[in-house]
Amino acid sequence: MMGPIRLGVNLDHVATLRNARGGVHPDPVLAARVALAAGADGITIHLREDRRHIRDADLERMRAEITAPINLEMAATEEMVGIACKARPHACCLVPERRRELTTEGGLGAAEQEDALRLPIRQLSEAGIAVTLFIDPDQRQVEAAARLGAAAVELHTGRYAGAFETDSGGTEALRQRELERLQGAARDAIRLGLACHAGHGLSFENVGPVAAIPEVSELNIGHFLICQAIFDGLPAVVSRMKSLMTQARGLG
Ligand code: PXP
Repeated sequence: MMGPIRLGVNLDHVATLRNARGGVHPDPVLAARVALAAGADGITIHLREDRRHIRDADLERMRAEITAPINLEMAATEEMVGIACKARPHACCLVPERRRELTTEGGLGAAEQEDALRLPIRQLSEAGIAVTLFIDPDQRQVEAAARLGAAAVELHTGRYAGAFETDSGGTEALRQRELERLQGAARDAIRLGLACHAGHGLSFENVGPVAAIPEVSELNIGHFLICQAIFDGLPAVVSRMKSLMTQARGLG
Protein backbone atom coordinates (compact mmCIF):
# COMPACT_ATOMS: atom_id res chain seq x y z
CA MET A 1 0.00 0.00 0.00
CA MET A 2 1.20 3.50 -0.79
CA GLY A 3 2.13 5.87 2.01
CA PRO A 4 0.23 9.08 2.76
CA ILE A 5 0.78 12.26 0.80
CA ARG A 6 0.93 15.78 2.24
CA LEU A 7 -0.70 18.88 0.79
CA GLY A 8 1.18 22.16 1.17
CA VAL A 9 -1.11 25.08 0.32
CA ASN A 10 0.70 27.99 -1.29
CA LEU A 11 -0.86 31.26 -0.07
CA ASP A 12 1.09 33.74 -2.20
CA HIS A 13 -2.03 34.84 -4.06
CA VAL A 14 -3.88 35.69 -0.87
CA ALA A 15 -1.12 38.24 -0.34
CA THR A 16 -1.33 39.30 -4.01
CA LEU A 17 -4.98 40.18 -3.48
CA ARG A 18 -4.27 42.01 -0.23
CA ASN A 19 -1.50 44.02 -1.89
CA ALA A 20 -3.81 45.04 -4.76
CA ARG A 21 -5.60 47.43 -2.39
CA GLY A 22 -3.13 47.86 0.44
CA GLY A 23 -4.47 47.33 3.94
CA VAL A 24 -4.87 43.98 5.65
CA HIS A 25 -7.58 42.03 3.74
CA PRO A 26 -7.42 39.16 2.99
CA ASP A 27 -4.99 38.11 5.71
CA PRO A 28 -2.60 35.30 4.63
CA VAL A 29 -2.25 34.13 8.26
CA LEU A 30 -6.02 33.73 8.58
CA ALA A 31 -5.99 31.87 5.24
CA ALA A 32 -3.30 29.56 6.66
CA ARG A 33 -5.50 28.74 9.67
CA VAL A 34 -8.48 28.06 7.42
CA ALA A 35 -6.45 25.87 5.01
CA LEU A 36 -4.97 23.84 7.86
CA ALA A 37 -8.38 23.34 9.47
CA ALA A 38 -9.66 22.07 6.10
CA GLY A 39 -6.96 19.40 5.81
CA ALA A 40 -3.79 21.08 4.52
CA ASP A 41 -0.65 19.58 6.05
CA GLY A 42 1.54 22.64 5.69
CA ILE A 43 1.73 26.18 4.35
CA THR A 44 3.97 27.30 1.51
CA ILE A 45 4.93 30.93 0.90
CA HIS A 46 7.40 32.47 -1.54
CA LEU A 47 9.30 35.51 -0.32
CA ARG A 48 10.37 37.05 -3.60
CA GLU A 49 13.17 39.52 -3.99
CA ASP A 50 10.62 42.14 -5.17
CA ARG A 51 8.13 41.23 -2.36
CA ARG A 52 5.32 41.22 -4.91
CA HIS A 53 3.12 39.00 -2.73
CA ILE A 54 4.40 37.67 0.61
CA ARG A 55 6.32 40.25 2.66
CA ASP A 56 8.81 39.89 5.50
CA ALA A 57 6.12 40.70 8.08
CA ASP A 58 3.91 37.87 6.69
CA LEU A 59 6.73 35.39 7.22
CA GLU A 60 7.32 36.65 10.75
CA ARG A 61 3.62 36.37 11.63
CA MET A 62 3.33 32.90 10.06
CA ARG A 63 6.24 31.70 12.18
CA ALA A 64 4.81 33.27 15.33
CA GLU A 65 1.18 32.21 14.86
CA ILE A 66 1.19 28.94 12.88
CA THR A 67 2.55 25.74 14.38
CA ALA A 68 2.16 23.57 11.23
CA PRO A 69 5.19 23.18 8.92
CA ILE A 70 6.04 26.29 6.91
CA ASN A 71 7.79 25.76 3.60
CA LEU A 72 9.55 28.95 2.49
CA GLU A 73 10.25 29.19 -1.23
CA MET A 74 13.12 31.54 -2.02
CA ALA A 75 16.04 32.30 -4.28
CA ALA A 76 19.43 31.11 -3.04
CA THR A 77 20.71 34.63 -2.33
CA GLU A 78 22.66 35.87 0.67
CA GLU A 79 19.75 38.11 1.70
CA MET A 80 17.20 35.26 1.62
CA VAL A 81 19.48 32.81 3.41
CA GLY A 82 19.92 35.40 6.17
CA ILE A 83 16.15 35.88 6.50
CA ALA A 84 15.50 32.12 6.49
CA CYS A 85 18.18 31.37 9.08
CA LYS A 86 16.55 33.94 11.36
CA ALA A 87 12.94 32.83 10.75
CA ARG A 88 13.79 29.09 10.76
CA PRO A 89 10.88 27.69 8.79
CA HIS A 90 10.52 23.91 8.74
CA ALA A 91 11.75 23.78 5.13
CA CYS A 92 13.19 26.02 2.43
CA CYS A 93 12.58 25.28 -1.22
CA LEU A 94 15.22 26.92 -3.39
CA VAL A 95 13.81 28.20 -6.67
CA PRO A 96 15.23 30.16 -9.59
CA GLU A 97 13.90 33.70 -9.64
CA ARG A 98 13.69 36.19 -12.46
CA ARG A 99 12.29 39.60 -11.66
CA ARG A 100 10.03 39.85 -14.70
CA GLU A 101 8.56 36.33 -14.66
CA LEU A 102 4.87 35.90 -13.77
CA THR A 103 5.62 32.72 -11.83
CA THR A 104 8.57 30.35 -11.36
CA GLU A 105 9.15 29.36 -14.96
CA GLY A 106 11.53 26.44 -14.78
CA GLY A 107 13.45 24.33 -12.34
CA LEU A 108 16.66 25.34 -10.65
CA GLY A 109 19.74 24.46 -12.71
CA ALA A 110 21.17 22.46 -9.81
CA ALA A 111 23.62 20.63 -12.09
CA GLU A 112 24.82 23.88 -13.69
CA GLN A 113 25.06 25.84 -10.41
CA GLU A 114 26.51 23.28 -8.04
CA ASP A 115 29.29 25.57 -6.85
CA ALA A 116 26.97 28.51 -6.16
CA LEU A 117 24.40 26.36 -4.35
CA ARG A 118 26.77 24.54 -2.01
CA LEU A 119 27.15 27.33 0.58
CA PRO A 120 23.46 28.36 0.86
CA ILE A 121 22.42 24.70 1.21
CA ARG A 122 25.02 24.16 3.91
CA GLN A 123 24.04 27.32 5.82
CA LEU A 124 20.32 26.47 5.74
CA SER A 125 20.92 22.82 6.70
CA GLU A 126 23.15 23.86 9.59
CA ALA A 127 20.32 26.12 10.82
CA GLY A 128 18.16 22.99 11.06
CA ILE A 129 16.08 23.76 7.94
CA ALA A 130 15.23 20.94 5.51
CA VAL A 131 16.39 22.10 2.07
CA THR A 132 14.42 21.22 -1.05
CA LEU A 133 15.57 22.00 -4.58
CA PHE A 134 12.86 22.81 -7.13
CA ILE A 135 14.08 21.07 -10.28
CA ASP A 136 12.86 19.84 -13.64
CA PRO A 137 12.16 16.09 -13.69
CA ASP A 138 15.56 15.20 -15.06
CA GLN A 139 18.01 12.60 -13.74
CA ARG A 140 21.00 14.99 -13.99
CA GLN A 141 19.25 17.50 -11.76
CA VAL A 142 18.23 14.86 -9.22
CA GLU A 143 21.82 13.60 -9.06
CA ALA A 144 23.13 17.12 -8.52
CA ALA A 145 20.61 17.64 -5.68
CA ALA A 146 21.88 14.46 -4.02
CA ARG A 147 25.53 15.52 -4.38
CA LEU A 148 24.63 18.89 -2.86
CA GLY A 149 23.18 17.27 0.24
CA ALA A 150 19.59 18.50 -0.20
CA ALA A 151 16.96 16.75 1.89
CA ALA A 152 14.40 16.68 -0.92
CA VAL A 153 13.66 17.63 -4.48
CA GLU A 154 10.42 19.22 -5.65
CA LEU A 155 9.72 18.15 -9.22
CA HIS A 156 8.39 20.92 -11.46
CA THR A 157 5.04 19.71 -12.79
CA GLY A 158 4.47 22.77 -15.03
CA ARG A 159 5.07 20.97 -18.34
CA TYR A 160 2.86 18.07 -17.27
CA ALA A 161 0.09 20.51 -16.26
CA GLY A 162 0.57 22.48 -19.50
CA ALA A 163 -0.09 19.29 -21.49
CA PHE A 164 -3.71 19.44 -20.25
CA GLU A 165 -4.21 22.76 -22.04
CA THR A 166 -5.42 21.51 -25.39
CA ASP A 167 -5.86 25.07 -26.73
CA SER A 168 -2.10 25.55 -26.33
CA GLY A 169 -1.12 22.28 -28.01
CA GLY A 170 -1.53 19.89 -25.05
CA THR A 171 -2.24 16.29 -26.05
CA GLU A 172 -2.79 12.98 -24.31
CA ALA A 173 0.57 11.73 -25.68
CA LEU A 174 2.37 14.77 -24.24
CA ARG A 175 0.68 14.30 -20.85
CA GLN A 176 1.79 10.68 -20.78
CA ARG A 177 5.36 11.60 -21.72
CA GLU A 178 5.58 14.29 -19.04
CA LEU A 179 4.04 11.97 -16.45
CA GLU A 180 6.67 9.33 -17.27
CA ARG A 181 9.42 11.93 -16.78
CA LEU A 182 8.00 12.73 -13.34
CA GLN A 183 7.74 9.03 -12.45
CA GLY A 184 11.35 8.39 -13.54
CA ALA A 185 12.74 11.38 -11.63
CA ALA A 186 10.75 10.39 -8.51
CA ARG A 187 12.31 6.91 -8.62
CA ASP A 188 15.78 8.47 -9.02
CA ALA A 189 15.18 10.73 -6.02
CA ILE A 190 14.25 7.87 -3.70
CA ARG A 191 17.10 5.69 -4.98
CA LEU A 192 19.51 8.52 -4.08
CA GLY A 193 18.05 8.98 -0.60
CA LEU A 194 16.09 12.18 -1.27
CA ALA A 195 12.47 12.86 -0.35
CA CYS A 196 10.39 13.68 -3.41
CA HIS A 197 7.81 16.48 -3.64
CA ALA A 198 6.09 17.95 -6.70
CA GLY A 199 4.20 21.05 -7.69
CA HIS A 200 3.28 23.80 -10.13
CA GLY A 201 0.10 24.13 -12.18
CA LEU A 202 -1.73 21.32 -10.37
CA SER A 203 -5.55 21.38 -10.32
CA PHE A 204 -8.51 19.10 -9.62
CA GLU A 205 -8.27 17.92 -13.23
CA ASN A 206 -4.62 16.93 -13.36
CA VAL A 207 -3.60 16.14 -9.76
CA GLY A 208 -4.58 12.44 -9.69
CA PRO A 209 -1.75 10.86 -11.73
CA VAL A 210 0.91 12.91 -9.89
CA ALA A 211 -0.54 12.08 -6.46
CA ALA A 212 -0.50 8.41 -7.51
CA ILE A 213 3.30 8.37 -7.98
CA PRO A 214 4.22 6.30 -4.92
CA GLU A 215 7.58 8.01 -4.36
CA VAL A 216 5.99 11.49 -4.12
CA SER A 217 5.23 12.41 -0.51
CA GLU A 218 4.16 16.07 -0.82
CA LEU A 219 2.42 18.34 -3.33
CA ASN A 220 2.59 22.13 -3.13
CA ILE A 221 -0.38 23.79 -4.80
CA GLY A 222 -1.36 27.45 -4.91
CA HIS A 223 -2.73 29.26 -7.94
CA PHE A 224 -5.60 26.89 -8.75
CA LEU A 225 -6.73 26.55 -5.14
CA ILE A 226 -6.88 30.30 -4.53
CA CYS A 227 -8.68 30.89 -7.87
CA GLN A 228 -11.20 28.11 -7.23
CA ALA A 229 -11.76 29.42 -3.69
CA ILE A 230 -13.47 32.47 -5.26
CA PHE A 231 -16.28 30.14 -6.34
CA ASP A 232 -16.31 27.42 -3.70
CA GLY A 233 -14.57 28.88 -0.64
CA LEU A 234 -11.11 27.99 0.67
CA PRO A 235 -12.15 25.19 3.08
CA ALA A 236 -14.09 23.36 0.35
CA VAL A 237 -11.30 23.50 -2.25
CA VAL A 238 -8.55 22.48 0.17
CA SER A 239 -10.65 19.61 1.45
CA ARG A 240 -11.52 18.42 -2.09
CA MET A 241 -7.89 18.62 -3.24
CA LYS A 242 -6.75 16.60 -0.25
CA SER A 243 -9.37 13.94 -0.85
CA LEU A 244 -8.50 13.68 -4.59
CA MET A 245 -4.86 13.18 -3.59
CA THR A 246 -5.74 10.55 -1.00
CA GLN A 247 -8.09 8.70 -3.38
CA ALA A 248 -5.40 8.65 -6.10
CA ARG A 249 -3.21 6.68 -3.70
CA GLY A 250 -5.99 4.22 -2.94
CA LEU A 251 -6.24 5.55 0.61
CA GLY A 252 -9.52 7.46 0.39
N1 PXP B 1 6.21 24.88 -6.04
C1 PXP B 1 7.03 25.91 -6.34
C2 PXP B 1 8.48 25.74 -6.09
C3 PXP B 1 6.52 27.12 -6.86
O1 PXP B 1 7.37 28.13 -7.14
C4 PXP B 1 5.13 27.26 -7.01
C5 PXP B 1 4.57 28.56 -7.48
O2 PXP B 1 4.82 29.54 -6.53
C6 PXP B 1 4.31 26.17 -6.66
C7 PXP B 1 4.87 24.99 -6.20
C8 PXP B 1 2.83 26.24 -6.77
O3 PXP B 1 2.46 26.39 -8.12
P1 PXP B 1 0.97 26.80 -8.45
O4 PXP B 1 0.75 28.15 -7.85
O5 PXP B 1 0.94 26.81 -9.96
O6 PXP B 1 0.08 25.75 -7.86
